[in-house]
Amino acid sequence: MLKQLKTLAVAGLMGLTATSAQASAFDPEDAVKYRQALYQVMSAQMNVMGAMLQGRQEFSAEAVNERARNIGMAGSLLGETYFPETADVDSSRLLSRAWSDMSGFQAKGAEFGQALTALIEASSQEGFDVRQARSAIGAVQRGCRSCHDDYRAR
Ligand code: HEC
Repeated sequence: MLKQLKTLAVAGLMGLTATSAQASAFDPEDAVKYRQALYQVMSAQMNVMGAMLQGRQEFSAEAVNERARNIGMAGSLLGETYFPETADVDSSRLLSRAWSDMSGFQAKGAEFGQALTALIEASSQEGFDVRQARSAIGAVQRGCRSCHDDYRAR
């Protein structure tokens, strides 16, 4: 079970360009909306985890695990929203640099996938507490930010 989840989170986030060479099922405008909606889903999960760390919501390892897996699921759908024609969509904040530096962009996805996998694993262990959560969730958050810093327009 855990192994499956692990594969899910990492494969999805690393496979950002898996579909880029094939014809897409989506119109470029729709793909960008879909992509942005997936990021909103991920953001909503992060906010719940943040609220647990700040004591605004009761902390539970199971809840952290569920939220982290939700991010993995949303992330696993991102790949099909990344194909070259989306570069011309005005509402997209993806920097064109992502296409010219695809390996760098993918590396950010891979780093993020690793941090997320680590969080999914750690939060499924007995005794996972707020202190561990702070560190593991912090690493995931840095993964989000680090990609935005380099590949998303402000
Ligand atoms: C590998 C790169 C990468 C990672 C990792 C990443 N993002 Fe993003 N994110 C982007 C890019 C690129 C966009 C802009 C997409 C577009 O507009 O086409 C974006 C857009 C967003 C948006 C704006 C969506 C909208 O409505 O326009 C939010 C919110 C967001 N990301 C949250 C997150 C969160 C939270 C995480 C971590 C859990 C995360 N992102 C991880 C690259 C990344």
